[in-house]
Amino acid sequence: MHKEAMELNEIIKKESPLIYGLLSETGKKTYFSKTGIFAQSLQAKQTELNATIGIALEEDGSIMHLKSITKYILLEPQDIFPYVPMPGKPELRKLWQQSIYEKNPSLKSLISTPVVTNALTHGVSVTAQLFIDPEDIILLSDKSWSNYNVIFSTQEPIFKSYKTFSEGGLDIDALEDAFGQNIGKKILLLNYPNNPTGYSPTNKEVQRILEIIKKRADMGDRILAVCDDAYFGLTYEDNVYKESLFAPLSNIHENILAIKIDGATKENFAWGLRVGFLTFGYKGMTKSVCKALEEKIVGTVARNISNVSNLSQSLVLKSLNSPDYSQEKQEKQEILKLRYNAIKEVLKNPKFNEYFNALPFNSGYFMCLELNKNIDIEKVRKKLLLDYDTGVVTTSGCIRIAFSSVNLKNIPLLFENIYTACKNIV
Ligand SMILES: Cc1ncc(COP(=O)(O)O)c(C=O)c1O
Repeated sequence: MHKEAMELNEIIKKESPLIYGLLSETGKKTYFSKTGIFAQSLQAKQTELNATIGIALEEDGSIMHLKSITKYILLEPQDIFPYVPMPGKPELRKLWQQSIYEKNPSLKSLISTPVVTNALTHGVSVTAQLFIDPEDIILLSDKSWSNYNVIFSTQEPIFKSYKTFSEGGLDIDALEDAFGQNIGKKILLLNYPNNPTGYSPTNKEVQRILEIIKKRADMGDRILAVCDDAYFGLTYEDNVYKESLFAPLSNIHENILAIKIDGATKENFAWGLRVGFLTFGYKGMTKSVCKALEEKIVGTVARNISNVSNLSQSLVLKSLNSPDYSQEKQEKQEILKLRYNAIKEVLKNPKFNEYFNALPFNSGYFMCLELNKNIDIEKVRKKLLLDYDTGVVTTSGCIRIAFSSVNLKNIPLLFENIYTACKNIV
């Protein structure tokens, strides 16, 4: 193992045996070199004659670039072309951290400064690399983003799937049962608003979820709570919990490390920019462990992709700093809410229950239909494609509808098409 990795491990082990025990074997070996090219370049940043970085400068010292690129972009070349620091642009990281506190008013404890990732998929992958070893137990609800399996399966963990819903709400007993009899390391994936169901827990459900997690931590489970907040902020009912579960989980118990994976992708409607963040918090966080773990996260990002696009980070930063930012975001959220309300209205027609029922939904981009038992969902999907010019996704045994991408006036037709396709198949 590299000396720098061992140094980080020593700090973590001494001050937080929990985090040391949660790290995977790869996580233990990970470090961000303090002596490599990047660190040497940083030391030489202010020098008059700087021959460290592998970028090209003009004779006058300005950044070399092609006008066939800049003619399309209003930003300064400095905000487009040079490499950014590996953890991300410092101002962007600070601002995103501040926004996490603002969006989660109950969050008062120390959290790490978010590290910029190549959007959320990469954040999930970094988490997997740092924390998951073969045979580790991952608790995952049976309706979840199918890519979790793809990303985590290379680490060969044991997936413990539990039932998502019962009686119109979350099956929290199923979550409790999934923890099982054995005490040990558990990775809990929490994705709300959820993909594919579009469900977020109510305030009441959150209280129970937290009680269970805390109880298990009291019993000795060492828990990594991964909050995938891709669709954060898009909630459409008053009784829905409006904060991230990261807020309470990052300061609820010494046996819990909470990780927040979020970003501009879905939340700020900037999918292709690929800007995400990885932030963590745990009860009793110390500055030295925070720094050591942050270095392991940065080391993983650097190992995977070096760093995230300067241009993309600059655009997200400009947007966050814009006086119109909140208003713009609100307007887009309103559009999605109108579609949500339209679906609720359409589904009041009892005829649809002949073939399908909606699973609980109250937030996010999606909702799911569960077809009656005798109907083959894959046949319905294909019929919709071929005969009704209509595309839906089948996942987790349901038809997933991304109402985020269907305009308001087409919502009744979408459900009519699904209804008729089912009718023609039965
Ligand atoms: C729950 C969830 N997490 C993460 C992602 C990945 O998002 P990104 O495009 O930022 O990688 C998605 C995308 O569909 C998602 O639904």
